[in-house]
Amino acid sequence: MRILGLETSCDETAAAVYDGSAGLLAHEVYSQVDLHAAYGGVVPELASRDHLRKLLPLLRKVLDAAGGPGAIEGIAYTSGPGLVGALLVGASVARSLAYAWRVPCLGVHHMEGHLLAPLLEPEPPEFPFVALLVSGGHTLLARVEAVGRYEVLGSSLDDAAGEAFDKTAKLLGLGYPGGPQLAALAERGRPDVFRFPRPLTERPGLDFSFSGLKTAVVVALRDRELDDQTRADAALAFEEAVVDTLVIKCRRALEATDARTLVVAGGVGANRRLRARVRAMGEQAGVRVVYPRVEFCTDNAAMIALLGHLRLAAGQHDGLALRPRARWPMTELVPPSRATPL
Ligand code: KG4
Ligand code: ZN
Repeated sequence: MRILGLETSCDETAAAVYDGSAGLLAHEVYSQVDLHAAYGGVVPELASRDHLRKLLPLLRKVLDAAGGPGAIEGIAYTSGPGLVGALLVGASVARSLAYAWRVPCLGVHHMEGHLLAPLLEPEPPEFPFVALLVSGGHTLLARVEAVGRYEVLGSSLDDAAGEAFDKTAKLLGLGYPGGPQLAALAERGRPDVFRFPRPLTERPGLDFSFSGLKTAVVVALRDRELDDQTRADAALAFEEAVVDTLVIKCRRALEATDARTLVVAGGVGANRRLRARVRAMGEQAGVRVVYPRVEFCTDNAAMIALLGHLRLAAGQHDGLALRPRARWPMTELVPPSRATPL
């Protein structure tokens, strides 16, 4: 089945075409980073308007690259979680096209897209696997049994890992989005100048808490000259603390589930220090570590089209309903089914 996928949940507009036999035929991403940079974060209304401007041109591009709209047999769009105005743009375009082309349409879960993004790779992980999902909005560890069968093992009680990167970057005077900029600054940091806590690692459990880390950074930098070297030292110590915490929890999750494969997905999965450290831990533990390529770690529509394929090809669709959902707990997800549409 050939599926068009659309992603408009936050500040990236993306479109892709995935074919059940030929694989990914085309994908395009437009990032709104420059638009929001002046405000230090995503401005929801501006995001919605920009999705409106960019989605149709992107859509044309991927359809041209994939040989036109004639062969599209289904449409999947991100229906949550995300900014509701932004989600509505993708939902309306997807549902309207599906109506015009007389093909089924399905709203899919953004985080499930991230979880299954490694299936786009030539050597995909085999089920079951443990997945660490680290993005701007979410941090969780899940046991992935099959498509739609997820056991959430632990999640963030407060800030997501990416959010912690972004907020700490702001404290250090860096622009938005802070994660990649903080990582670049940390390259110049000297080890062991600062040491920040590894939250919730002292007691059992797989939950995360990152909000105290930015406070630790504020306290450590109080009354200090904020020169470039000090900022870089703090960035490195912060990155070390987050990466260490994530690695400790991944190892714990692998031990608790006896899984032989670990997947790291989501925007923070693009972090080089995290990738290297998780890989080293995997080698030591005899566990296979799989990352989607960097462009499929951050927001993209390839993962949405793939997920759409997995569900639409099984007969699942939403009928005529539009279902944008700002919040959508992963625990509500079920395996692909022929559930009666609304
Ligand atoms: O998955 P994603 O693209 O969007 C969400 O669904 O949230 O993740 C974006 C998050 C942002 O917080 C960004 O700062 C972070 O991922 N990020 C990074 C890196 N690249 C992106 N954090 C640390 N190091 C990076 N290299
Ligand atoms: Zn995302």
